[in-house]
Amino acid sequence: MAGPYYAKDLRQSELLSIGRHREEAHIWTLKVGELTYNKFDSAPPSTIQHHPLQRKKLVVSRRTINISIFTMAIKSLEIRPLSIPSTSAVDFGVEIHNVDLENLTEDDFDLIQNAVYKSHIAVIKNQAGLSPKAQYELTKRFDPTTDNYGHGKTLNAKRSVLHPDLKTIPHQPQVQVIGNGYYDEYEGLKNITLKHPHHKKFHQDAILEEDDLNATRFFRWHMDAALYALNPPKITSLMAVKVPEGRRQTLRYDDGTGEEMDVPLGTTAFVSGQNMYRILSEEDKKFVREAKVEYAAHPYIWMSPAKSRSDGLGMLSEGLELPNSELPPINEKDIKILPMCYKNPVTGNLALQIHPSAVKAIHLPNGEIMTDLKEVRDLIHRLQRPGISPQHVYPHDWVEGDLVLFNNQGVLHTVVGAFTPEEKRLFRQCNMASNEGVLGPDGKRY
Ligand SMILES: [Fe+2]
Repeated sequence: MAGPYYAKDLRQSELLSIGRHREEAHIWTLKVGELTYNKFDSAPPSTIQHHPLQRKKLVVSRRTINISIFTMAIKSLEIRPLSIPSTSAVDFGVEIHNVDLENLTEDDFDLIQNAVYKSHIAVIKNQAGLSPKAQYELTKRFDPTTDNYGHGKTLNAKRSVLHPDLKTIPHQPQVQVIGNGYYDEYEGLKNITLKHPHHKKFHQDAILEEDDLNATRFFRWHMDAALYALNPPKITSLMAVKVPEGRRQTLRYDDGTGEEMDVPLGTTAFVSGQNMYRILSEEDKKFVREAKVEYAAHPYIWMSPAKSRSDGLGMLSEGLELPNSELPPINEKDIKILPMCYKNPVTGNLALQIHPSAVKAIHLPNGEIMTDLKEVRDLIHRLQRPGISPQHVYPHDWVEGDLVLFNNQGVLHTVVGAFTPEEKRLFRQCNMASNEGVLGPDGKRY
């Protein structure tokens, strides 16, 4: 018989019906005739490995095909750069195709892990059927000794600025649901109304009501981290279950620069901490390699009465933060003093990685501590602001089934968008507080 026969000839849906289903979902091409094994470069699932070449009768849909000798080739994992407009300076991010995350080989996991650490963001396509449990297990695989959600139980503190935005999946507490709209039931959560965080709830001033659906802002640039008692998670996974269609918005910085960008509704915006470091002056690079930041105790409660800058990159200083007497008990040893730069464990590159809203003080290289909150924030804003200009921002255009894995110790990200109540969005987020501290520029853990 002549071959090969490709999926487009036999219809992919028929090929997918061959044999036992989960492994065979990988099957893309069926080759017939005198074939070599060279399509098996990336290991096929073990159940297929047992009989890659033997006499078989294959049932394809309702037809029976008798094949004397066959081999099944597996469409292997494929990594491509994200498509970035030519006007953008974004040089990070990849898309990954042909992955069955619930049956991931060690080799394929290594490829994904490498991609996340080298490219900061990996968008794994076509994962619509992925369960919360599988999402948790994949996320945990990057940091296997950890098991607690990145914010621990502090998320439930009513006064925390995070409290209204996330709902915990009862049977998988490391996974949170975020989004917009009313849902009768989702993964054991009943009658839930999700509200997409709107900048008017967090920024000092807001876009006028009449422009609200056309224009939006970065809500709050951050890394996912409790920044008190718990170490920052290494990896966050974000899964698009339901994505509103069509609309785009103008993202405004409203900071006097006139900068703005066109973004899809409900994008998540990412910037690279590595790039943020790279574009600093040599003098600033030296400073950020040597200085540290002290985060507030219970930062998300502490900041709750304060208001953000219009670019979402840190808070304004109006003396509104809660005093210690109004916070839950503080254990001095749980206060986090972390480097300004984190070292990438795979590439060794440095990322400027500061959660601007949660910072309370700067520990200067000469040993002094800068505690004037306005001065602290102004300095950090000066260092970080160039890195969030439009050419450095990647606004992901979500498609249902996208599972984004990002290096939470190498990128900052933010929610974006203003929705009507009818525009439904449902996402799942998972990360876990690491048992290891972050890697500083000196190679030490903090
Ligand atoms: Fe986040």
